[in-house]
Amino acid sequence: MSDKKEIKDQLKRPIRDLRISVTDRCNFRCSYCMPAEIYGDRYKFLEQDKLLTFEEITRVTNIAVKLGVEKVRITGGEPLVRKNIDILVRLISEIHNLSDIAMTTNGYLLPKLAQTLKNAGLKRLTVSLDTLNDDIFRQMNGRNFGVKSVLKGIEAASLAGFQPIKINSVVQKGINDHTITDLAKYFINKGHIVRFIEYMDVGTLNNWNMKHVVPAKDIISKINETIPVKPIKAQYHGEVAKRYREINGPGEIGVITSVTNPFCGGCTRLRLSPEGSLYTCLFGTRGTDLRGPIRDGASDQELVEIISNTWRMRNDRYSETRNINADKTNDKKVEMYHIGG
Ligand code: GTP
Ligand code: 5AD
Ligand code: SF4
Ligand code: SF4
Repeated sequence: MSDKKEIKDQLKRPIRDLRISVTDRCNFRCSYCMPAEIYGDRYKFLEQDKLLTFEEITRVTNIAVKLGVEKVRITGGEPLVRKNIDILVRLISEIHNLSDIAMTTNGYLLPKLAQTLKNAGLKRLTVSLDTLNDDIFRQMNGRNFGVKSVLKGIEAASLAGFQPIKINSVVQKGINDHTITDLAKYFINKGHIVRFIEYMDVGTLNNWNMKHVVPAKDIISKINETIPVKPIKAQYHGEVAKRYREINGPGEIGVITSVTNPFCGGCTRLRLSPEGSLYTCLFGTRGTDLRGPIRDGASDQELVEIISNTWRMRNDRYSETRNINADKTNDKKVEMYHIGG
């Protein structure tokens, strides 16, 4: 690690994680992310030549690692719809001084790809699954896919050696909040970790309203009625999820409290969009273009300067100020499917 340069942002946060969105496409149409009415057959996603190539992504990742990045997460859109994604996983897993490479997926393509991803060097998997109730899930994913299709993917991943798998569930009041205990129970029994995410006001399309949020403390109270749990220590500084352990067993669950108890103070995450823009916040309105300089022949040193300056200027803490600043800006927030969760 000795050749790493420590750079800090305006709030003294180092850079530790790189979250790479490899595509803006997805085979699902979750209502809170890519509503089917908007993302129909005619919707124009990014053309192939606008996407960073795997070599370009690997080059940026190598530089980011020199600036302090230790963990990489591959996201989308749905990362598994990007062709030959295992090749990117292999390229990134071969980078020195990187301790973790994980992926967040909706799980639908895992029966086909789980083993290939494992062989390519992927260390950890997170699968999004909001509920086990088939009717509700078919509604929520906007494509009428049944729960079974995702459970098969999780099973395949488990067989390929991903264990535990983290399951992400976005909780929306009146939609799936009455199904959280079933989800927790099912995956505790499988040795996986469900994390319940407070529904967030990301992007511009989900008509978010505080009334739709179930506060994490209510989620925990609900779970506690059936599965007694107690809080346990974070695994690393700035961990996104707050962890809870089952009192009468080894099970673990988590809650992600970005609305009721934001965690911007420990936010060390830099995000790279599919077309090569850097975002310093999930709620960012503007990215810093890297693809232009890369394709114009920028040297590694020039890219180091662009990334370092972007990070040094960073003062994002959106979740901590959302109530104060709500609707004060006319700038459009980037969509969640564009830069990943
Ligand atoms: P681990 O490396 O396993 O700890 O992953 P993680 O906890 O970072 O999990 P993951 O990347 O799956 O993030 C889970 C969810 O937390 C995402 O889908 C987002 O909804 C939310 N989230 C992650 N990072 C941020 C962030 O920086 N800000 C906010 N507001 N929410 C985030
Ligand atoms: N609020 C919270 N989480 C969200 N995700 C997508 N949109 C939202 C939102 N509005 C989650 C997905 C997935 C990850 C990529 O981000 O469920 O787990
Ligand atoms: Fe696709 Fe994930 Fe967005 Fe759902 S939340 S539409 S699975 S990118
Ligand atoms: Fe980081 Fe922005 Fe999320 Fe705060 S709101 S934790 S700064 S990504």
